[in-house]
Amino acid sequence: MKKLKIGVLGCANIAKRSVIPAILSIPEFELVAIASRTLAKANEFTAEFGGEAIEGYQKLMDRKDIDAIYMPLPTGLHEEWIMKALVANKHVLVEKSLAMSHVSAKKMVQNAKEKDLLIMENFMFLYHGQHRFVKQLIEEGKIGELRCFRSSFGFPPLANDNFRYNKELGGGALLDAAAYTVRASQLFLGNDLEVAASTLNYNTNEVDIFGGAYLKSKTGVFSEVAFGFDNFYQCNYELWGSKGKITAQRAFTPTAHFKPTITLEIQGEVFNYEVNAENHFVNILNEFKRCIFENDRDKKYAEILNQSRLLQELKDKIND
Ligand SMILES: NC(=O)c1ccc[n+]([C@@H]2O[C@H](COP(=O)([O-])OP(=O)(O)OC[C@H]3O[C@@H](n4cnc5c(N)ncnc54)[C@H](OP(=O)(O)O)[C@@H]3O)[C@@H](O)[C@H]2O)c1
Repeated sequence: MKKLKIGVLGCANIAKRSVIPAILSIPEFELVAIASRTLAKANEFTAEFGGEAIEGYQKLMDRKDIDAIYMPLPTGLHEEWIMKALVANKHVLVEKSLAMSHVSAKKMVQNAKEKDLLIMENFMFLYHGQHRFVKQLIEEGKIGELRCFRSSFGFPPLANDNFRYNKELGGGALLDAAAYTVRASQLFLGNDLEVAASTLNYNTNEVDIFGGAYLKSKTGVFSEVAFGFDNFYQCNYELWGSKGKITAQRAFTPTAHFKPTITLEIQGEVFNYEVNAENHFVNILNEFKRCIFENDRDKKYAEILNQSRLLQELKDKIND
């Protein structure tokens, strides 16, 4: 069996909670090493998950027995470490958001193309079957012609020392919660969206805490997104058509054993469909592996660039 040898760069919560267990559940992955800025933290992780504990990120890059890196670092550190990973000939699965700016995303993608290496953004929700089910309902004409997409993702405040409140590290709701709603807009409305208007509200440290945007496609179908770090929890989308409406209540964060409910409303009737539970972290890791083994990279580069373009437009439009 062909194996993908992977190293983890940074002992992040998301790595511990979801991604490393998913890596270990896939036979074609081999977890070779886990690096941290501190050896104690790396040791703690390898004691739980296996692999070799490494102190310092560069030492992981220097390993010749690793094909790919999983990088759950704050966005502000991605460009530096992705460029180093590419120099070291390693594919990268990077946590969202990939980049601080569209210019930075273009630079990373250009380098990945030149080295013929994959970089892929870890939007695992895209690989959950609930969205395929929604698309099927739309294709079957259940809601008629699609008029509009709406999505909200927000949650109550986090601990003060969370990197999401640090501007230099890429904190802020735009690169975090908003990124999901913007990515989901493209999933349903296509890639030709443009941001027509947006708003971002900042705290005293110039970190954006909540906001919203209006995105338009060339066909006139549009998306309204809302997001925040100091909000009542919501994680949903709705698709409103000429004859009905579809709602996904747990759009971005269903856990592996959770069966999401998709609601279809049509004239006078409401249908609730319970879809299968899936581990979307396993699904995206399988897709990452497939893209590497089958040399299938271009679509992922294009997805990264369109996403970073839209996040950049969202930031730029607030000055209009
Ligand atoms: N796909 C998803 O479902 C999902 C969910 C949550 C988060 N995320 C993304 O995953 C990434 C990590 O999020 P998280 O919530 O897991 O964060 P976290 O626990 O704070 O992890 C961030 C890691 O980055 C490393 N790091 C290096 N320099 C740092 C610095 N100056 N300050 C803070 N950390 C630093 C640390 O690893 P060492 O100390 O070991 O070096 C730390 O453990 C973010 O990009 C986030 O957007 C994705």
